[in-house]
Amino acid sequence: MKQALHSQSEIPLAPPTQAQLRAFADRLYEENTARGVETLRKRTREEIFSVISALNPARILEIGTAEGASGIGMLSAAPNATLTTVELCEERFLAAKNNFRAAGIASRVTQLFGDAREALLMMERPFDFILLDGPKGMYAEFYPILKNLLTPGGVLAADDVLFHGYITGETPYRTKHGAIIRSLRTFIETAQTDTDMTCRFFEEEDGLILLTKK
Ligand SMILES: C[S@@+](CC[C@H](N)C(=O)[O-])C[C@H]1O[C@@H](n2cnc3c(N)ncnc32)[C@H](O)[C@@H]1O
Repeated sequence: MKQALHSQSEIPLAPPTQAQLRAFADRLYEENTARGVETLRKRTREEIFSVISALNPARILEIGTAEGASGIGMLSAAPNATLTTVELCEERFLAAKNNFRAAGIASRVTQLFGDAREALLMMERPFDFILLDGPKGMYAEFYPILKNLLTPGGVLAADDVLFHGYITGETPYRTKHGAIIRSLRTFIETAQTDTDMTCRFFEEEDGLILLTKK
């Protein structure tokens, strides 16, 4: 099991301030990036945190916890929010558990270990902000479920929709990625033509789609 970023003796007695949480998230982001653990890219995470800060959501859902860097960052931007986050890889789930505890926000986080496809079927209460950052081949399949789970005025953010340039053709197509590319193209087209949603495409880095439910 990976070590948490900080030892338990550093757990603050009082709840962390937004600035402390943001600093923790930034350190974890740097550490994840250096270690090659997938995490939101620099400008993408700033864009997401800024949308969350303006929205001030009460309930956030994340598909793809990794080690918790995005989750801690999102909670630093949303002082009143709780986070429900799903991760399939046990090692990452456990690392995230340590990181949420070390950041002092374990009580604001519900971590689910398993396949998001199954976890989504169990969700009943809606969310104000959803970060879709899990299996790229399932974005199209997850879209109608996530749309139903979103409150009116809520935002669904889907990361990595350009999939390393394969979607635009900037990077030559590889057969092994065929199913993911087809799913992402379907997702992008559905998102851009769905009249129930307002769609904004943040085309920097690996591409982020931001959908606001009307
Ligand atoms: C891009 S990473 C998430 C990064 C994280 N949101 C961050 O910014 O720090 C995608 C994560 O989704 C997880 N994942 C992949 N397939 C999944 C599935 N079917 N259900 C839940 N999690 C899944 C992977 O194990 C991986 O940790």
